[in-house]
Amino acid sequence: MTPENSGPLLVDRIPAIPGSLADPLSDLLSASVSETLPSSVSGSLSETRLDSLPAELDPEYSGNGAFFTADPLTHPEVAVVGLGYAGLPVAVSAAAAGYVTCGIDLRAEVVDSLNAGRPLVDTVSAEQLAGIRTRFAATTDPAVLARCTVVVVCVPTPVDERGRPDLALLTAAVTTVRDHLRPGQLVIIESTTYPGTTDGVVRAVLEESGLRAGDDFALAFSPERVDPGNRDFAFHNTPKVVGGFSDRCRDRAAAFYTRLTERVHVTRSTREAEAAKILENTFRQVNIALVNEFARVCHRLGVDVWDTIDAAATKPFGFMPFRPGAGVGGHCIPVDPLYLAHRAREAGYPFSLVEAAQTVNDAMPLWVAERAIAELGAQDVTAAGARVLLLGVTYKPDVADVRHSPAVPLAEALLASGVRVSYHDPYVDVFEAAGTVLPAVEGELSEAVAAADLVVLVQRHGCYPADLLAGARRVMDATGPASAPNTAQL
Ligand SMILES: NC(=O)c1ccc[n+]([C@@H]2O[C@H](COP(=O)([O-])OP(=O)(O)OC[C@H]3O[C@@H](n4cnc5c(N)ncnc54)[C@H](O)[C@@H]3O)[C@@H](O)[C@H]2O)c1
Repeated sequence: MTPENSGPLLVDRIPAIPGSLADPLSDLLSASVSETLPSSVSGSLSETRLDSLPAELDPEYSGNGAFFTADPLTHPEVAVVGLGYAGLPVAVSAAAAGYVTCGIDLRAEVVDSLNAGRPLVDTVSAEQLAGIRTRFAATTDPAVLARCTVVVVCVPTPVDERGRPDLALLTAAVTTVRDHLRPGQLVIIESTTYPGTTDGVVRAVLEESGLRAGDDFALAFSPERVDPGNRDFAFHNTPKVVGGFSDRCRDRAAAFYTRLTERVHVTRSTREAEAAKILENTFRQVNIALVNEFARVCHRLGVDVWDTIDAAATKPFGFMPFRPGAGVGGHCIPVDPLYLAHRAREAGYPFSLVEAAQTVNDAMPLWVAERAIAELGAQDVTAAGARVLLLGVTYKPDVADVRHSPAVPLAEALLASGVRVSYHDPYVDVFEAAGTVLPAVEGELSEAVAAADLVVLVQRHGCYPADLLAGARRVMDATGPASAPNTAQL
């Protein structure tokens, strides 16, 4: 159960970090500041004040971080554990907001690359890293955690081979945090997970330190919502959902994020914040499954699915267009709903819609492969030995991420039929399917397009010219309406 506020936390008594010329976290952790809640915080708050000063009211905050000159590894204020697609934007946002920030990652190549100013993921640019270089440094040494006042955990939460939540990486990271936990720290989990993780397994591990959540340290959950490739919404303008183990834990986490984002929304507890993230992704998963299966029905009935969606989308209310494709990929949509489905099943309530959506989406790459083989057959080309070129093998356009990409099962299904599969993707140097590295196009792409028996457009990256497929013998386009007579669409 989540305890209500009962007396001051030890975090109220933590001294300012020595060496920090101005310490926004001493404000954040001070319970003596009483003020009206910023209007940027919404949700079911039971208190009417927040124990922090927003940046614009901080007399020492210059807005450009000029007063933060401490070494991020000797006098850090914020630590981010896990510097991948999701964690790095958190670290960069914290540093950009003025916090002296250290990033911790197990992988030395990540740390070395970041310290050299080169992000290995495309959710942060080299320019952004350059902009925070005086307030951010990365390390593989977790000892730095003991020197921080805020610790944000953003490590992977995958599923195992049977589709069950695998919290091993999260538990390992939290165990590391436990080993360096000290009174007064605020620990925030950002990794996507099922409701009950933060106040369950995470709290249990942290309390092995002898410190108690809500009394000795603050504990909160705030889901990472980064959308790689999205040019309109980044960390600063995507509202941050925050749930705390207690009201005071929640308010401290909200105070931290108020500096980083335009809007913070608080929930009743950590569980609603955890569930909200999975609901968002389940919403996408189910709607994508709907249009994917709808595409198959349309194909069977001789109906143009793209034309139909465009027509339905003219309705100004009650309809939101989703587009079919070769399947779903990335770290979130194929994975997060399974966390909820698994938890629901354990609780005796199978989440049948999620499970059905998963089945539909998983079947899409195989259906596209079947369609591709049928297209070859229509040209009197047998699958065995046919040359098929896959264009765009990442899980979505203009993103350098092949995790759970539908291009993998698509390629595997084609290979299983004896097809000679090659690929082109400006974002992917090495692409593996069925345990083998597929040949990448070398030389002119237009020549490779013309030489293939069939080109399958899996992702339409922005860099692909509109006339790219003009010279192809036959095209299977999984990304949109057929734009040429030699093209088959979903
Ligand atoms: N990728 C996305 O678009 C996205 C979006 C929203 C939420 N998320 C969630 O964010 C979490 C992280 O995903 P990601 O995509 O950033 O993963 P990632 O694989 O890109 O990065 C994770 C990083 O954590 C590091 N790491 C793992 N264990 C560690 C430990 N004990 N100590 C230090 N570093 C450790 C890894 O080396 C890696 O660099 C997941 O729960 C994911 O569901 C991801």
